[in-house]
Amino acid sequence: MAVKTVQDSMVTVVQQMMNEDANLAGNVHGGVIMKLIDNTAGIVGTRHTGKNVVTASIDRMDFHSPVFIGDLLRIRASINHVGNTSMEIGVRVEAENVITGERRHTGSAYLTFVCLDENHKPIKIPPITFETEKEQERNCEAKKRIELRKRQRQESLDKICY
Ligand SMILES: CC(C)(COP(=O)(O)OP(=O)(O)OC[C@H]1O[C@@H](n2cnc3c(N)ncnc32)[C@H](O)[C@@H]1OP(=O)(O)O)[C@@H](O)C(=O)NCCC(=O)NCCS
Repeated sequence: MAVKTVQDSMVTVVQQMMNEDANLAGNVHGGVIMKLIDNTAGIVGTRHTGKNVVTASIDRMDFHSPVFIGDLLRIRASINHVGNTSMEIGVRVEAENVITGERRHTGSAYLTFVCLDENHKPIKIPPITFETEKEQERNCEAKKRIELRKRQRQESLDKICY
């Protein structure tokens, strides 16, 4: 079986923000954007594995600028790292004013997905090759984040135990 590439599963979802996406201030609700991020990353994970994947964690997320009703939200997601049964998927969110064409980078997020078998047990994820310099750079950065996440998870588990 041919080893898959980042391009094979990469996805860009574009959606116009409508009135029902608004918060009380009249801008787009952060939770709407977070759901789209999770969905888009999930598509990438499913495409790569051809199996059921679940969100294990989402790293800290900052919203750099508001998104307005009528804006096009462009969510681009791709795999940064494949472990044994988990993978890191990076997501970049941009908002586009459809009238002026102005685009803003509104946020980025890193999500960890775990691949599950029919019995909901984690299973091995197919390998991936990082072909471009940018993909390799993202892979290197992802490895550092994975170590950090492991340490932080252990620390919070230790706190729960005491
Ligand atoms: C995610 C889940 C499957 C992990 O199950 P688990 O029994 O803890 O699995 P393991 O300890 O064997 O870990 C499996 C992999 O996930 C990684 N992992 C587990 N929890 C993680 C977390 N919180 N953040 C990042 N990675 C995590 C492990 O490092 C391991 O990676 P590797 O195999 O690539 O080395 C389980 O916690 C679960 O089902 N959670 C609910 C998921 C869900 O329903 N999400 C939807 C939103 S509510």
